[in-house]
Amino acid sequence: MKHWMTTAVAALALAMPAIAEARPVEFERAARPAGGAVVLPVGKDGALSGLSQDADKAAKGAIAAAIATAGFKGEAGKSLALYGAGPYSAVLLVGTGEGAKSAQDLKTYGGVTAQGTSGWKTPVIVVVPDAADVAQDASVAAMGAQLGAYNFGKWGKPAEAGEPAGGLTFLAKDAAAAKRTFDRDGAAVVAGVSLARDLTSTPSNIKSPDWMAQQVVAAFEGVPNVTVTVMDEAAIEAAGMGALYGTGQGSARPPRLVAVEYKGGKAGEAPIAFVGKGITFDTGGISIKPGPNMWRMRMDMAGAASSAGAVLTLAKRGAKLNAVAVLALAENMPDGNAIRPGDVLTSMSGKTIEIMSTDAEGRLVLADGLWWAQETYKPQLAVTIATLTGAVGGALGPDYAGLFTKDDALAERFLKAGEASGEMLWRLPIHKNSLAAMKSDVADIKNGGEGAPGASVGALFVMEWAKPETPFVHLDIASMAWENSGNATTPKGAVGYGVQLFDEIARGYEAK
Ligand code: BES
Ligand code: MN
Ligand code: ZN
Repeated sequence: MKHWMTTAVAALALAMPAIAEARPVEFERAARPAGGAVVLPVGKDGALSGLSQDADKAAKGAIAAAIATAGFKGEAGKSLALYGAGPYSAVLLVGTGEGAKSAQDLKTYGGVTAQGTSGWKTPVIVVVPDAADVAQDASVAAMGAQLGAYNFGKWGKPAEAGEPAGGLTFLAKDAAAAKRTFDRDGAAVVAGVSLARDLTSTPSNIKSPDWMAQQVVAAFEGVPNVTVTVMDEAAIEAAGMGALYGTGQGSARPPRLVAVEYKGGKAGEAPIAFVGKGITFDTGGISIKPGPNMWRMRMDMAGAASSAGAVLTLAKRGAKLNAVAVLALAENMPDGNAIRPGDVLTSMSGKTIEIMSTDAEGRLVLADGLWWAQETYKPQLAVTIATLTGAVGGALGPDYAGLFTKDDALAERFLKAGEASGEMLWRLPIHKNSLAAMKSDVADIKNGGEGAPGASVGALFVMEWAKPETPFVHLDIASMAWENSGNATTPKGAVGYGVQLFDEIARGYEAK
């Protein structure tokens, strides 16, 4: 029986990436498109300028007339499609509002472009709005297009038959430079985000800790300067990681610890470390969760997925630093062998933990993952990223991930990188009362505290495993990992939140 189950899972695993190819993008020198299918930027109140205005002239005013008829106001993120305007077979007008000013605006422009032309079967020429303060606008817009065109598809089914959408050709003053930038930076980000999304979207009957480990190994095959190490349950136990081991012991599918090391910096230079919560499914364990919404907990490994995705991005673009992703992987199941409330686990650091709730499992796996990362790499920065608490969504809603650190300069750095990457953060408190709430009579700490704010309690728990000499940041992405409705650059579903943020953070640590 056992053997048969293993084989079946392995066979399914082979079918894994049911993911469609990224929408092809190209670059050409900017000039008024002669004809065919085009995408044009439209400013506030339907204003046409530059190449959009030239295209309207070629269409003898048909585009301006359509804007007026439809009352299209050119708001950022909105679009209007026309068919048959002068020399153009199809025109997608994409609003830029006050004008594209930031990288995020350009990504949105690209995303709206990809989504609004997803049914177009011929090549599409895309006029990119001028955003004078952003270098390589066309590359960033193209990256937004590929992120917005992401489609996980239906599990196990081949991509839908039929003619694929036409490729997108982005116009740029210096097309060769735009292409170089995209091939190096843009494509690397798309690869990292797509890996994180693919892993997070995968159903948990497939996505065991070992499956995740294997997928990460496969994703980095042939990527230069990368070493992937997988620790199995015996190695985890032998290393003394009782918190990670205990979290996974109720599952028939044992825990794993995966380390992805990228060496792009000087030999011996301390790496930056991303430690991700990788609960491949969170039932709550013996402290079992209520039924409604439990299905969502297949995304409880999103932090681990983003840490791997970020290192894939850094490796693919050849970032000049050393970085490591540590994925703390376990499945949280109720079972005859599962841990119970009241149990005491000994973590790798020697610190003991009294279990209040087996549903506060993320902090357990992070405690050992973070300690192991520090012991192994002595990182110059350690970040934990986790779908840790429902409470963070209550505090910040679906617009910001929670940022926790004792270091004001690091907080500033992360808040800025959040703005620049479009993956926004909001700093939340780490009051000593939240730590006091976890005082235990039988262990060094409890894994939960009453009366203290939930997201801060989780953060302070994890911080207990950060060494004083390690610059440390914790991110709670519970409300950001899954997009419920879909937007320009993130279709409904897994977000891959953190990859673009970490890419931006890494730039601040790179050799110039
Ligand atoms: N994985 C959950 C947190 C979560 C909730 C993620 C909603 C995404 C959406 C986490 O393991 C959990 O169960 N947290 C508990 C903590 C509590 C038991 C201290 C929570 O938030 O209720
Ligand atoms: Mn939980
Ligand atoms: Zn969880």
